[in-house]
Amino acid sequence: MLIARSVEECREARAQLVGTVGLVPTMGALHEGHRSLMRRALAECDHVLATIFVNPTQFAPGEDFAAYPRSEEADLAACEDEGVSLVFIPPVEEMYPEGASTTVSVGELSTILEGASRPGHFDGVATIVTKLFAVTTPTRGYFGQKDAQQLLVIRRLARDLLLGVEVVGCPIIREESGLAMSSRNAYLTDEERAQAAALSRGLRTAETGWLGGLRDAATLRQMVHDEIAAQPLARIDYVSLADEETLAECDGRVTRDALLSVAVRFGKARLIDNAVLRVPPTSR
Ligand code: PAJ
Repeated sequence: MLIARSVEECREARAQLVGTVGLVPTMGALHEGHRSLMRRALAECDHVLATIFVNPTQFAPGEDFAAYPRSEEADLAACEDEGVSLVFIPPVEEMYPEGASTTVSVGELSTILEGASRPGHFDGVATIVTKLFAVTTPTRGYFGQKDAQQLLVIRRLARDLLLGVEVVGCPIIREESGLAMSSRNAYLTDEERAQAAALSRGLRTAETGWLGGLRDAATLRQMVHDEIAAQPLARIDYVSLADEETLAECDGRVTRDALLSVAVRFGKARLIDNAVLRVPPTSR
């Protein structure tokens, strides 16, 4: 496994990779969720190129940029273990040369839900992912459905800017309790962690209702809300049921595939999770 720490080193090492390349961008503190993307990339591509970069521009002032968990040694071992060919792990100055002023913004999709709670977040994500695509020129990029809105933003960006990278979405990996894996779960106390299982439980309750034919948007949102609000340490940021493609909030009877998503604070951690509610082909 090669390790590149500068853009130049990364471009040189990338040029040596023969065949298709699957890119797995991460901010490190790698867990099974990240590893599942690497496995999928390795199954579908000749080489896996992973990036580890805690991107400052996607953190709003007052967010956890400085505190974000960093574990370089364990992360490199995990990459090696997953058969990664090249890891790009640059310092901030490499990705943001002095005076860099160009940003990428995908428009409305980035201003709602997570974008409303975290102003500027998706511009930071879109900008860094564009740069990572430019440096690594992958065949495909692998991203988790865990960050459903991010996945939509990146699909849009790749399409609009004609980047020629196929964006692949991968399923959410969960703990046994149902809690979606996240580097930020490290911030949870034992008590918060136990209560945080309510996110996936609430989503599952609504999903069960949906599969049983429940279609009223407000009722579906309420089911998730009630399950989470019953946890004393939970502070709900939003519960959303929105069109899966546009993220326009659903109203009344849901007739198209929809994204049910939540953001909830527990102490220092802000957790997100989601489920896609699909309309069965027979009832379309
Ligand atoms: P990070 O939070 O490290 O996540 C890297 C990738 O792993 C993302 O595509 C994310 O959706 C995926 N992922 C995280 N937890 C997952 C889980 N439980 N199951 C499946 N996939 C999971 O997302 C970012 O970093 C950054 O915004 C980045 C895209 C790297 C740009 O800086």
